[in-house]
Amino acid sequence: QNFVVFDTDVGTDDAWALLMLIRAEEKKLKNIKILGVTCVHGNTEIEHVVRNVFRVLDTVNRPDIPVFKGASGPLLPIPMDNNPFFHGVDGFGDIYEHGEDDKIFRRLQKEHAVTALYDFASKYPKKVTFILVGPLTNFALCMKMYPDFADKVKDVYIMGGNRKGVGNITSCAEYNFYCDPEAAYIVTNESRITKIILPWEPCLPKPEQKYTSLEWRLKELSAINNPITKLMDPVDSKCYGRVGRKQWCPCDACLMAVFLFPELIIKKESKYHVSVELIGTNTRGQMILDHKKEKADNARVIEMMHLENFKEIAEWTVGCNINL
Ligand code: BDR
Ligand code: CA
Repeated sequence: QNFVVFDTDVGTDDAWALLMLIRAEEKKLKNIKILGVTCVHGNTEIEHVVRNVFRVLDTVNRPDIPVFKGASGPLLPIPMDNNPFFHGVDGFGDIYEHGEDDKIFRRLQKEHAVTALYDFASKYPKKVTFILVGPLTNFALCMKMYPDFADKVKDVYIMGGNRKGVGNITSCAEYNFYCDPEAAYIVTNESRITKIILPWEPCLPKPEQKYTSLEWRLKELSAINNPITKLMDPVDSKCYGRVGRKQWCPCDACLMAVFLFPELIIKKESKYHVSVELIGTNTRGQMILDHKKEKADNARVIEMMHLENFKEIAEWTVGCNINL
């Protein structure tokens, strides 16, 4: 069995990634078994992340998946005055009413997300894949709290960082790494863990790519009109509309596609020693690749993707393409 833990700061693209993972489990793709969802701060406050995760699980009728609350902030404070709030204050475009918190938070597991990560890895040593689509705080804390954690991890998929220094929160840094640079540094520099990293730039579709246009997403993909599109259409339309983006680029879902459909989506990948800039005045949080190859490679970095194939994968996720 392919055990998976999903660590997230939901977020529209996180939601798409989770929906894709759930579809994969239900379709028995790669014998996936979802062990749990761990929540981390990032796109929104941790309480909103928890609410959004339950909203997604309820939409696809999967209240059985355990949810754990994790870190509410980064290891060190970071300046966030330029936060574009792409995802809105509540991470889901501020369009849904929030349910009664008492009821929602009672559904959380008692255990903290960080201990849950460790317990899953200990229960199934070298058998759990961790998919990390938010700031890396929970995972880094787990590594520091439990020095044997790294040896128990099968592999880890990370959406974060950038390979050419193209940022989306500052000029030089990608959001997830920027939100907790120290955590990203701790995780990327741990050589005992097999890491597959999807940086920001390969997720950016070219304007001429029709099947990644927002128009395609909100018209053709939504034509199926089921609970998934009903949940996600207003969120995407609000979040993308707010910043005037014309292309749909759900980075976290792209990472999930890298995990589930590597042969379809990966166009080019290379091995690098990956680290993170911690001090730079303008470059704090930027991913650093050792282009000179002086240090031993510590990660596989996805450099280019077949985004045209994301069409089929997205259709499969909403249930209107059964060919995969
Ligand atoms: C990443 O930042 C977040 O806003 C998204 O959810 C994604 O994980 C992209 O840089
Ligand atoms: Ca995310």
